[in-house]
Amino acid sequence: MQGIDVFAGAGGMSIGATACGVDVRYAIERDPYAAETFAMNHSCVTLYDKDVREISAAKHLAGLDRTQPLVLFGGPPCQGFSTSNQKNRSIVNEKNWLYQEYLRLVSEVKPDWVIFENVKGLVETEGGFFLDAVLKGFKALGYITSHFVLNSADFGVPQKRNRLFIIGSLHGVSVSTPIATTKKPVTVSQAFKDLPILGNGDDLDEMEYSSAARATYAKSLRGSLLRCSNNVVTDNAPHIVERYSYIPQGGNWEDIPDHLMKNYADKSRCHTGIYRRLKEDEPSVVIGNFRKNMLVHPWIDRGLSVREAARLQSFPDWFRFCGTIGFQQQQVGNAVPPVLAKAVFESILARQ
Ligand SMILES: C[S@@+](CC[C@H](N)C(=O)[O-])C[C@H]1O[C@@H](n2cnc3c(N)ncnc32)[C@H](O)[C@@H]1O
Repeated sequence: MQGIDVFAGAGGMSIGATACGVDVRYAIERDPYAAETFAMNHSCVTLYDKDVREISAAKHLAGLDRTQPLVLFGGPPCQGFSTSNQKNRSIVNEKNWLYQEYLRLVSEVKPDWVIFENVKGLVETEGGFFLDAVLKGFKALGYITSHFVLNSADFGVPQKRNRLFIIGSLHGVSVSTPIATTKKPVTVSQAFKDLPILGNGDDLDEMEYSSAARATYAKSLRGSLLRCSNNVVTDNAPHIVERYSYIPQGGNWEDIPDHLMKNYADKSRCHTGIYRRLKEDEPSVVIGNFRKNMLVHPWIDRGLSVREAARLQSFPDWFRFCGTIGFQQQQVGNAVPPVLAKAVFESILARQ
């Protein structure tokens, strides 16, 4: 099966696709740093570092082997759909209607399969308006659809992260919800234990592991590597690090004494995800924006390194993130966990 990754980001979905044998031929990503990361890690894929609006199937996607089945996959940016972003969340904000560009590409390419990925919030936003619009759009193009929300922790990813997947089939094939593969969730400790030991503000990129990998999960991402990259941690000011020291595992900003939170004009406006310290014996909370939310390492007073976050997202350790630390953090947080993506690709490959 061949693949096209639209809104590719660093390529979390492409890693999952490739892992089950999909030959990803094209990717489209307009952010230069995410595109650089994608290109470095997927050297066999033709990448267009352009706005999707500039892409036409006839001009840019002409090299597909149409004797093979084809899957077009990816998710238009979801900020506009997210229930947590009140400012942009509006059906009149046409900038958020990039899903129509996605549908345009589908209409031009006519892939056998489509995997549309997005935030779970799409189901409720504007009373289900967007989900409805996407489903109707697929139907009008001749696709029958199945959709489901999956929690990555149920599929062996050490993170509780819900994603919506809409699967479209041009040939009338319905796909049932993938069955959870994990009874005992993978924990943060199993994901972190062998990684280099870092302090606040470290930015050493390549480093040796601190120990042999014991957990099956860590072994599977590490393979035979002796060193790993992206060992970079945000350099927090001393007063922030002091705040960290008061937070127990599973705690958050509420554990920080008031006198250390004086610059928060209204502490009651903090949400429970702010200054959350991860619990080592559970999967992580969602790491979407781990720097802005100040997610704290379970046993060291600092934020997460890019490699640690990548482990929580199930990226293999050979995968390298490009750009400054902020761009690396964004690419990791934006991604669909490759191991979750793999489970979704497997569900369509089983119906081929
Ligand atoms: C949620 S991220 C994709 C994550 C990716 N599926 C993964 O698994 O790593 C969405 C991406 O869409 C890109 N993007 C946003 N608007 C775009 C546009 N008009 N054309 C191309 N890419 C765009 C963003 O730069 C961002 O990297």
